[in-house]
Amino acid sequence: MPDQTTTPRIKPPPERLYGRQTGHALRPRQERLLAETLPRLRVDPTAPLAALAGCREIWLEVGAGGGEHARALAAAHPTAGIIACEVFRNGLCSLLGPLVAEGAEATGALPANLRVWDDDARVLLRALADAALDRLYLMFPDPWPKARHAKRRLVHPHMLPLLARVLKPGAEWRLASDDPTYQSWVEQVMAAQALFAPASDSWERPAGWPPTRYEAKALRAGRRPRYWVFTRRR
Ligand SMILES: C[S@@+](CC[C@H](N)C(=O)[O-])C[C@H]1O[C@@H](n2cnc3c(N)ncnc32)[C@H](O)[C@@H]1O
Repeated sequence: MPDQTTTPRIKPPPERLYGRQTGHALRPRQERLLAETLPRLRVDPTAPLAALAGCREIWLEVGAGGGEHARALAAAHPTAGIIACEVFRNGLCSLLGPLVAEGAEATGALPANLRVWDDDARVLLRALADAALDRLYLMFPDPWPKARHAKRRLVHPHMLPLLARVLKPGAEWRLASDDPTYQSWVEQVMAAQALFAPASDSWERPAGWPPTRYEAKALRAGRRPRYWVFTRRR
């Protein structure tokens, strides 16, 4: 089989991009978070997103994991509406847990500028209007390091038109990865396209970027995260 890490010309991604939706069994508190808190935050991609708490900008994080990054963004940028997209149910529970006290899952106050999408990111991306987003985050996406799984990567030649369509001209796409295969893949895929312009490329987390759980894990394991910013060409 050819090494697809050096060949961005590959099959379109499959319908299902993510690996698994549930890990260990959910505890009652987690069940309540999904049953009672999640519906209060679930975003309606067909409604005008600008109405989201009167926010001036809408930012999407794809693969929000445990949600620490999205929660930090929402707290630091009250005029940005943050949509955290995550399919893994245990991750969604970690995202929601710090937002409401035990027993207040159905009633506790929630951040006005945070919303959640709990299905495949591509379903959301397809439902969004053109130029709906002011910023996109893809922090430590699943690397799918085996060449035969490369088609599942979110950075993929076939995904770029979809990402470009929903981003405003000039909007930033912030991306990070600690996986050497994925780092080379990003270089190759992004060098071979014209929809996004490179804005920065760094081995240090840029100022103002909240840390993530996978980043901490990568650093503990001695891996070197790399951080990019691309902008949607006008
Ligand atoms: C390696 S984790 C990184 C999580 C987090 N961004 C961090 O840095 O800690 C990647 C996450 O992306 C989620 N994910 C993968 N494919 C997805 C998709 N198509 N739609 C939504 N989430 C997805 C996975 O469930 C997983 O939680």
